[in-house]
Amino acid sequence: MRAIEVSEAGGPEQLQVVEVAEPEPGPGQVVVAPAAIGLNFIETYQRSGVYPVEHPFRPGGEGAGEVVAVAADVTALRVGDQVAWTSSVTGSYAERVLLEAAQALPIPAGLDLRTAAALPLQGLTVSMLVDGAFDLRPGQDVLLTAGAGGIGLLLTQVAAHRGARVITTVSTAEKEALSREAGAADVIRYDGFDDITTELPATVRDLTGGAGVHVVYDGVGKSTFDGSLASLRTRGTLVLFGGASGPVPPFDPQRLNRAGSVFLTRPTMFHYVSDPDERARRWSQVSAWVTEGVVDLRVGATFPLADAEHAHRALEGRQTTGKVLLLP
Ligand SMILES: NC(=O)c1ccc[n+]([C@@H]2O[C@H](COP(=O)([O-])OP(=O)(O)OC[C@H]3O[C@@H](n4cnc5c(N)ncnc54)[C@H](OP(=O)(O)O)[C@@H]3O)[C@@H](O)[C@H]2O)c1
Repeated sequence: MRAIEVSEAGGPEQLQVVEVAEPEPGPGQVVVAPAAIGLNFIETYQRSGVYPVEHPFRPGGEGAGEVVAVAADVTALRVGDQVAWTSSVTGSYAERVLLEAAQALPIPAGLDLRTAAALPLQGLTVSMLVDGAFDLRPGQDVLLTAGAGGIGLLLTQVAAHRGARVITTVSTAEKEALSREAGAADVIRYDGFDDITTELPATVRDLTGGAGVHVVYDGVGKSTFDGSLASLRTRGTLVLFGGASGPVPPFDPQRLNRAGSVFLTRPTMFHYVSDPDERARRWSQVSAWVTEGVVDLRVGATFPLADAEHAHRALEGRQTTGKVLLLP
């Protein structure tokens, strides 16, 4: 089978196609032929070395497809079943994926395989962001960075459905239109700012009668962090959930006091789905968002599996909107 492998940390050109033996299921495992593979920002951090990994490294933590082999001790799944997955175990950029059967997510009626492949990692992250990392309630003001991204479009729709008022940041007119369509009440074009650290909070305060927002969801990190912190109302919460622009430098906790006794959390989705019951409950919630029409999941781009290099270039180059899929 063909898989994508990284032999040393570096740029997108490190994503090479290799010919390798098909995996065999060990105890408790199944092998799946993915119909589609979800691309996620974490794979760019792993490829570049921001998150250290062992080499050779096979990226990919999400997809959906058909079970093609099952270990003798697995009773819950059979060859031909369709499943989705997201896992901290990597190796999903491949024509066959080895999966713990217990990690398989059932695909409810009404969810096609491409949507099922696009949903787990970003959907479960949004579930964590609105119920757990912060408990989002109707009437609250939200600032969300990268409103037209994969997480951005999902979170905007969920938060607006919940009755929150969503303010987003985006860098282009096309992204602004998508963010408004998803339900953002206000969209800030931060690409026009000379000093994001002062201009972002000033704009947010204008939009909130001077108060600031109850919660900032910041997945951009380095370039927005200071502006996000200054956009909070007293006792607000900054949920730093990623670093698309780079990691946030070391931080003095006294700044939380000066910002208004605010809270800072840096959550990772996998800590909110490690318990099997919680994972099942969150996956039901996320699937229902799609099947009940709360969210319209936008796949903004697809790339052939062998072209993972260009998919990474597009994601890191701020050229994508919504979800990006690789097709084997
Ligand atoms: N904590 C978790 O468990 C978890 C899980 C999933 C994802 N995440 C994080 O969530 C964030 C969003 O992920 P996603 O997959 O939905 O990506 P995405 O939002 O579709 O893409 C990233 C976006 O970030 C913005 N951005 C701003 N400055 C950037 C820069 N210097 N370089 C690249 N992008 C920049 C761009 O939007 P504009 O052009 O509009 O600025 C870009 O489109 C990422 O930081 C990711 O690591 C965290």
